[in-house]
Amino acid sequence: MEIAFTLNGEDTRAVGDETTTLLDWLRDTQQLCGTKEGCNEGDCGACTVMVTDARGARALNACILFLPQLAGKSVRTVEGISGPDGTLHPVQSAMIEHHGSQCGFCTPGFVVSMATAHLNGAVDYDDQLAGNLCRCTGYAPIVKAAEAASSAPVPTWVRDTINTSAPYGPASEDALAAWYADHPDGTLIGGATDVGLWVTKQFRDLGDVAFMAGCQDMAQITRDGETLHVGAMVTMTDLLEVMRDLHPSYAELIRRYGSVQVRNAATIGGSIANGSPIGDNAPALIAMGAQMHLRHGDVRRTIAVEDFFIDYGKQDRALGELVTGFTLPATAPDLRCYKLSKRFDQDISAVCGCFDITVTDGVVSAARAAFGGMAGIPKQASAVEAALLDQPFTGATIETAAAHFASDFQPLSDMRASADYRLATAQNMLRRYHAEATGAATNILEVTP
Ligand SMILES: Cc1cc2nc3c(=O)[nH]c(=O)nc-3n(C[C@H](O)[C@H](O)[C@H](O)COP(=O)(O)OP(=O)(O)OC[C@H]3O[C@@H](n4cnc5c(N)ncnc54)[C@H](O)[C@@H]3O)c2cc1C
Ligand code: FES
Ligand code: FES
Repeated sequence: MEIAFTLNGEDTRAVGDETTTLLDWLRDTQQLCGTKEGCNEGDCGACTVMVTDARGARALNACILFLPQLAGKSVRTVEGISGPDGTLHPVQSAMIEHHGSQCGFCTPGFVVSMATAHLNGAVDYDDQLAGNLCRCTGYAPIVKAAEAASSAPVPTWVRDTINTSAPYGPASEDALAAWYADHPDGTLIGGATDVGLWVTKQFRDLGDVAFMAGCQDMAQITRDGETLHVGAMVTMTDLLEVMRDLHPSYAELIRRYGSVQVRNAATIGGSIANGSPIGDNAPALIAMGAQMHLRHGDVRRTIAVEDFFIDYGKQDRALGELVTGFTLPATAPDLRCYKLSKRFDQDISAVCGCFDITVTDGVVSAARAAFGGMAGIPKQASAVEAALLDQPFTGATIETAAAHFASDFQPLSDMRASADYRLATAQNMLRRYHAEATGAATNILEVTP
């Protein structure tokens, strides 16, 4: 395999296996060792690089980024953040000035994330830097450095031009569907935020793979009246932008989905196709009543998202069948999504609960509730929904309905939460929904006397 892209401003060709990660290639073959290996699973941000394509510059984790995903793009490592003559980037100078580095292991990753945010004019540093972990400096000096650099002009050298080499792999949904029908045992690779770990942590040989990065026709979000179509290759970052206006509560859930680096890579198709019982998109889509579209060769079908999940590890998807996209309502004013995780940012949910309850003249006229982390699959709370329907939207109804969680779910105890805690928090999410809908202040992030 040979891939053409731009590295720190120079046209480059990389030769290697399809599942060679950018991190390994940089460190092992290019002696570009500023990009660090911390966790090797997308969690710590020590390996952050800047990748520019037609959609702009994004921070990505090089440890779970395969070389073919870079074809036709421009990559900038920490070595390319300072100027060709050694002039420091404003964020580097600010890091020195504000004592933003002690042992320095995390610093290259922070600097690349900060430089990417600086280039994009992003100033929400708590979000921008949530995917970079530091164990010794503490975040205050780092955030101060980012703030101090924000008004400095963007150095010309970090504005990469767009590399025009062709992407690697199928270039359209049609080509991908044909490839997958011919290689039913093959592996599709979207953002590789799951598949990357199969390689870096499980050392799996993936066999035949298809990189989907070239299928840009699957990366579109389109609105047709009250219906929104979201292609399977839409990243969580792009979805977040659209959801901020349309479904703000879902947007807030996505804001806590991994980190900037993870959201820049992860696709919505991958997050459903992987069948995860603890993924955050499935409960939101099920609560909204979303449909998903599948395709095998030229045969297409559409199912409700909840019907995709059959049992733990078992989904309604044939070999060689791909997920092409989702249809969801463009408006759902009563949708609320709640994520409970041990760490507020960059953590997998212990419980994720989403509700869409319509109240007409004080009576519940429609109710959908779906949960992740409560069963072996993302699952609707059917008994709770039935207990709410046609009842007055009162605290008493909520308490009656809350008792039905125990018949909907028999959750597991694991390292994230005990079964009892999961049941109790699911009930509390329903109580919170009612409190919020009836005007109570429920923002747990603001502690007031
Ligand atoms: C550090 C980190 C933090 C994370 N945090 C969260 C979080 O907070 N919430 C959360 O829900 N998830 C989280 N995840 C999980 C992950 O981001 C999601 O599962 C992700 O959305 C998967 O999408 P992807 O494009 O990266 O999938 P890939 O890794 O490319 O693929 C995943 C699986 O889906 C298959 N696949 C991909 N696309 C298709 C398609 N179109 N049709 C059929 N099959 C397909 C692949 O073959 C593979 O089996 C996190 C992951 C990491 C590494
Ligand atoms: S090494 Fe930790 S995110 Fe890549
Ligand atoms: S400076 Fe040591 S981990 Fe951040």
